Amino acid sequence: MIRRKGPVFCLETPNTTLVIKADTAEYLYYGKKLVSGGGFEPFFGSPRKIFSQYGGDDYTEYSVLLENADGGMSTAFAFSKCKILTEKPEIAGLPSSYGTGKTLELKYVDLPTKAALYLYYTVFDDSDVIAVSSKLVNGSKKEMHVRRLASVQLDLMGDYSFVTFEGTWARERQKISREIGKGVFYNDSKKGGSSHDRNPFVIAEGEDGVYGFNLIYSGNHKELLEQTQSGRARIVCGINDFMFRWALAPGEEFASPEAVMCYAPSEDALSLAMHAFISEHIVRGKWKKRERPVLVNNWEGTYFDFNEEKILNIARAAKETGVELFVLDDGWFGNRCDDRRALGDWFDNEEKTGGGLKHLADKIREMGLDFGIWVEPEMINEDSELYRSHPNFAMKVPGREPTRMRNQLCLNLADEKVQNYVVRVISDVIARSGASYVKWDYNRMLTDPFGKNIPQGEYFHRYMLGYYRIVSRITKKFPSVLFEGCSGGGGRFDLGNFCYFQQYWTSDDTDARERLKIQAGSSYGYPQTVMGAHVSACPNHQTGDSNPLETRFNIACGGLLGYELDMSKLTEDEMKTVAAQIAFYKENRKLLQFGDHYRLGDAFGGNMAGFMTVSKDKNTAIAVVSASEYIICGPVPSISFKGLNPSAVYEVTTREQVNYKNVLSFTAGGDLLMNAKLPLHDLYSDTQSWENSRRLYTRMFIFKKVKS
Ligand code: DGJ
Repeated sequence: MIRRKGPVFCLETPNTTLVIKADTAEYLYYGKKLVSGGGFEPFFGSPRKIFSQYGGDDYTEYSVLLENADGGMSTAFAFSKCKILTEKPEIAGLPSSYGTGKTLELKYVDLPTKAALYLYYTVFDDSDVIAVSSKLVNGSKKEMHVRRLASVQLDLMGDYSFVTFEGTWARERQKISREIGKGVFYNDSKKGGSSHDRNPFVIAEGEDGVYGFNLIYSGNHKELLEQTQSGRARIVCGINDFMFRWALAPGEEFASPEAVMCYAPSEDALSLAMHAFISEHIVRGKWKKRERPVLVNNWEGTYFDFNEEKILNIARAAKETGVELFVLDDGWFGNRCDDRRALGDWFDNEEKTGGGLKHLADKIREMGLDFGIWVEPEMINEDSELYRSHPNFAMKVPGREPTRMRNQLCLNLADEKVQNYVVRVISDVIARSGASYVKWDYNRMLTDPFGKNIPQGEYFHRYMLGYYRIVSRITKKFPSVLFEGCSGGGGRFDLGNFCYFQQYWTSDDTDARERLKIQAGSSYGYPQTVMGAHVSACPNHQTGDSNPLETRFNIACGGLLGYELDMSKLTEDEMKTVAAQIAFYKENRKLLQFGDHYRLGDAFGGNMAGFMTVSKDKNTAIAVVSASEYIICGPVPSISFKGLNPSAVYEVTTREQVNYKNVLSFTAGGDLLMNAKLPLHDLYSDTQSWENSRRLYTRMFIFKKVKS
């Protein structure tokens, strides 16, 4: 809902209010919902601005920088007009949020150049998240250059800590909270992809609550917090201005990616709001609200070393345990026997597939499993048919040796010919295999951004526009297919991708102990509905540590369950355990995948952590609790739960695990379960000796309401 009182606009969400004074481009208020409805005049003259430009007395970081035709960079955008739109405008070429709501359009003009700046704020009927974007239009008769156009600027007053989600390959989205004090801090990516290193989701936390920001974009991004001596805390988020210079011919426009922002009283409330928003207004298509299949992926089971027999053996064992989908990972095409060759050759390796993709897929389908396929469409190996026939498809700077990460180069997706080629060959793979699921991988970031006739300052963004053109065409062509994104694990885990891929491979690290943190970090800004989580073999291939099969399953229940190991090598007992796990998961899948998801304890500090999923009506819930260390003679591990109905009584039981038969069962009030700490006296009872092991101790709790 958007209300107007003269120049003042109140943007209302179910629990928050944002107040903007349009003529002076001021923020008057953003926070807990206002119910009194007015009295804004005394608050006029706020130093909190909705955008900032070079050329005035505001020397805090800018949201807009425009290079005029004469090379000068001063602008004086002043209020021109405003409108409330009932249809949310599309952002040409870029993914954005969707749904019913209202959009405030504000227009500011720089009179000397006639450049126009538009800002858009969309509020949805059912969400506390507000979508914000901006656009520059060249109204002059000369070419200009956009040097920076942030998607959103929010000015606050006071000091905030800046929470970011940083990491590396196999250690994505670790929560880091920084006191900035006075000064500037940037969280950004210059890698061409949103990156493993610094996710675009950030939070500013202060005494008045928490403000979360994210960007619907998968490329270079930048989120900054500057706190000045005069008390202003400015947050600016958008496309990274690193190497960025976009030419605007007369009449042309440049649109920023869309950002989202949300105020909430606590981190938990912020996460719930972000989860609901992503599930409702970002993820789309047939699979949006559908239960996701339990899959088996052969990658860690075989790597490149497989043939028809091995694959069918895994599929057969998987079927026996209740798995629903078999995913054939890297290695099925061209002469791909390692990561040095064949990327780009999307034709069947007859030998490894035993007679072609369709032949193998049909055999798997005959077993009663669905078939899914891995592709890495944006890449090329120099040792490939594609490179030999089209060396100019690769992204390279002429006359320079390209950087070869994982022995591969990126394709020049900024070129329309390459885009069309990728759409054609990948569509053919999906069609000829009849796949009902596609895993879209991207195993390296960009290093040689270059394309003939493409200005360097435009390259990164033109790559992204090409990428979105490809994924949008392919996903539209195959509306029934479930798409899982991947980027050497979770390197492009962002809202841009979730507009096309209903789920994402969270990390290449499948170690339960590491996964607990990665999933907890991811859950601050993203719902469990997008997080692929697999049970893999031990010792773990990434860390060398071992955890019991039941622990690996418990932790994988924090996302979308899959298995990623050679299931044909499981012992009879392990097969039974896995079958029981999958049966349990299927019975509780709706709750686990689509319930309200909370973090328990603290995965980034202390010994106790976990997660909990609560049904919308709060009648049922499942929690996984874990201790990361067995502290000899230490305190009894204990935990409190979240999200229950405080006045209801719950029957609480623990899931029987093969390594824990002593099932707990009791009834307790929701308020007690949430406010007191439940001691877990026998959490360490399953202490078998695991070789070389830093391990977790986990239990799964099931809650059923027995009295209101
Ligand atoms: C990286 C992915 O994250 C893995 O799951 C696997 O698909 C490999 N790439 C295959 O090359």
